Amino acid sequence: MVGNWKMALRPSQAHRLAQELAVQRLPVSCDIVVCPSFTALSLVRHSLGSSRLILGAQDVFGEVRGEHTGAVAVGDLREFGCRYVILGHSERRRDVNETDAEVNKKCLVAIGHGLSPIVCVGESRVERQRNIQTGVVARQVLRALHNLPPPRHGQEIVIAYEPIWAVGAEEPAEPEEVMTMAAVVHQALVDALGERLTDKHTRIVYGGSVFPDNVRSFIDRQNIHGVLLGRASQNVTTLVNLLKVLG
Ligand code: PGA
Repeated sequence: MVGNWKMALRPSQAHRLAQELAVQRLPVSCDIVVCPSFTALSLVRHSLGSSRLILGAQDVFGEVRGEHTGAVAVGDLREFGCRYVILGHSERRRDVNETDAEVNKKCLVAIGHGLSPIVCVGESRVERQRNIQTGVVARQVLRALHNLPPPRHGQEIVIAYEPIWAVGAEEPAEPEEVMTMAAVVHQALVDALGERLTDKHTRIVYGGSVFPDNVRSFIDRQNIHGVLLGRASQNVTTLVNLLKVLG
């Protein structure tokens, strides 16, 4: 489970949410990653303490160092204890015109410096209406992973299939459709990395309007290994209820 807190929580709120989560009995069978905003990383890290929750960030800059005002370096994320980083979320592709080439640079930086990227891919509503979603999504995966060195021990590549029209929406995508697209993502991973690395170092998750009442329909499906949550991860009761279903 990946929780994307976006910029929904101020640092003090993120701190409190992490403190509340850290004392819950959470399912041991589930890896739980929470991704606060950069400004909350340090506080959240401290509130997670020695709990099983894993820290992730919502983005990273595509260069390791240099003169880049306002950017956040991969080394900083490592120093804050992050193990995962969300890349290419549709909101960044929309807000700052992030391209597949930039997502690829960020992916290389993340893998090169010990982070596990969570690469978001997904078609727009128009692309789905034109029935070109499989090509769009396969291309996004291949471009994001272009020239990627093999992940090292303990590292993985997570692909989050998030159709843009289902993110922050009323309804998620149909589970059958998600399964079809997860198979497309799986094949693109095999094309990019080969069978062995795909089996050993990748997971596919679904994101877009997942809540406690619909999460069950997305898990235990072929090629779907978990979920990426926005709203449902930003409230302790909702998140704990959802995790109970996963556990
Ligand atoms: P949502 O957001 O769960 O609120 O739809 C999902 C996401 O951040 O991708």
